Amino acid sequence: MNNRKYFILTYGCQMNVHDSEKLAGMLEEMGYKSTNNLEEADIIMVNTCAVRENAELRVFGRVGDFKRLKEKNPDLIIGVGGCMMQIDENARKLYEKYPHVDLIFGTHNIHHIPELIKRIKEERGRIIEVWNQEEGLIPDIPYKREDDFKAWISIIQGCNNFCTYCIVPYVRGRERSRPAADIISEARKLASEGVKEITLLGQNVNSYGKDLKEDIDFADLLKRLNRVEGIKRIRYMTSHPRDFSDKMIKIIKECDKVCEHFHLPVQSGSTRILKKMNRGYTQAEYLNLIKKIKSQIPDYSITTDIIVGFPGETEEDFQETLKVIREVRFDMAYTFKYSPRKGTPAARHKDQVSEKIKQDRLTRLIEVQNSISLENNRKLKGKTVEVLIEGESRNNPDTFEGRTRTNKLVIVPRNENLKGQIANVKINRVGSWTLYGEVIDNTRETVLNT
Ligand code: SAH
Ligand code: SF4
Ligand code: F3S
Repeated sequence: MNNRKYFILTYGCQMNVHDSEKLAGMLEEMGYKSTNNLEEADIIMVNTCAVRENAELRVFGRVGDFKRLKEKNPDLIIGVGGCMMQIDENARKLYEKYPHVDLIFGTHNIHHIPELIKRIKEERGRIIEVWNQEEGLIPDIPYKREDDFKAWISIIQGCNNFCTYCIVPYVRGRERSRPAADIISEARKLASEGVKEITLLGQNVNSYGKDLKEDIDFADLLKRLNRVEGIKRIRYMTSHPRDFSDKMIKIIKECDKVCEHFHLPVQSGSTRILKKMNRGYTQAEYLNLIKKIKSQIPDYSITTDIIVGFPGETEEDFQETLKVIREVRFDMAYTFKYSPRKGTPAARHKDQVSEKIKQDRLTRLIEVQNSISLENNRKLKGKTVEVLIEGESRNNPDTFEGRTRTNKLVIVPRNENLKGQIANVKINRVGSWTLYGEVIDNTRETVLNT
């Protein structure tokens, strides 16, 4: 009874990562312990993403594989939830074709998991329970943090933007902001537990507060969080370029804890395509925003998301995207091939771009971006940067890793004393994605860990 274990598989964005922390929190309260070994799990939960077709295909593949585990252990409970399950067709397909799945749930009812699991056990039946509409905010749930020194804080759920390619508003519902007092008290609690860095989460954090009675916007929230003692760094994602106000730039400049990392998804460089995407800004407006940031914030980094092959995108449109990349000189870009999502306006366009052209544009785009990322990083060689050392590197036990305020990944030699510390690191070597360095003493400028 006491040795029951759970395994959670998460796809998708940070909202899903954080939802999985909530799932873990609820399962732990029910007496389950986490395991990394699928074979010994008593509960497997899959938290899915619907943003692109390949994300969905991977889920069906993976869940199909779990049949073998269920055959070995008939008491195993398999649950599939998240964004993909908010789409009727997916939930039905999973229910009909994957009889080894016991539970199907959505994004709006994750707080009901304990009750649903109890019902499955009692009734030994299968449950499909997906709420179509959000009923206000998902209530605060005790969550189990993945990291010791970093934490996610949800500040706004849902999205009202309806970019024409995007499924998110359909699977996450309308924007609902969390009261500021709850956010601040969560930040205080996290600080008391040793958390140094918080990331505020929402599909469009700049919309924060619009639906609240309280007179507060996202910039005001940042200002209030900047006063929480113990928190050293504040990040946020994602910002919509249309809503990134001058007030935001001013407050970021004033608030020492708010990091100088700007993730501003441009999606396309072509004003014509941006209009078709319903993004609400032109190329010139986007470039103007970047100019303001560059002129007012020292030591900034700028990253972005880009989609190639949106319906009707011509080579000229794509050249506009390359132009924007070269002009902004992003530190990094997440690049995607457009993936038609059933139910979204863009999926109904007749002028879909061929897979071959999408792939060709993606390859060219990545090539240009990689060289810009490398050139930007080269400027950091020999410089000393502030790094929050998070712990062992993901794929090398001999090194530790951390991030700069600008969100660049830094690798340093292993040193247990550094875990959770904010250290000064001298950069010796750089790649497109990673910086390598050594920690130097803050005051004496000597090398600590040689
Ligand atoms: N709310 C965030 C992130 C949304 S999803 C934002 O507005 O930026 C993350 C990224 O996935 C998007 O920025 C977009 O670049 C990409 N994306 C969304 N829908 C897509 C689709 N149908 N095909 C390809 N990429 C898509
Ligand atoms: Fe999707 Fe646009 Fe909302 Fe982002 S802002 S989640 S891309 S609809
Ligand atoms: Fe995917 Fe849902 Fe996030 S569709 S990108 S997991 S909000």
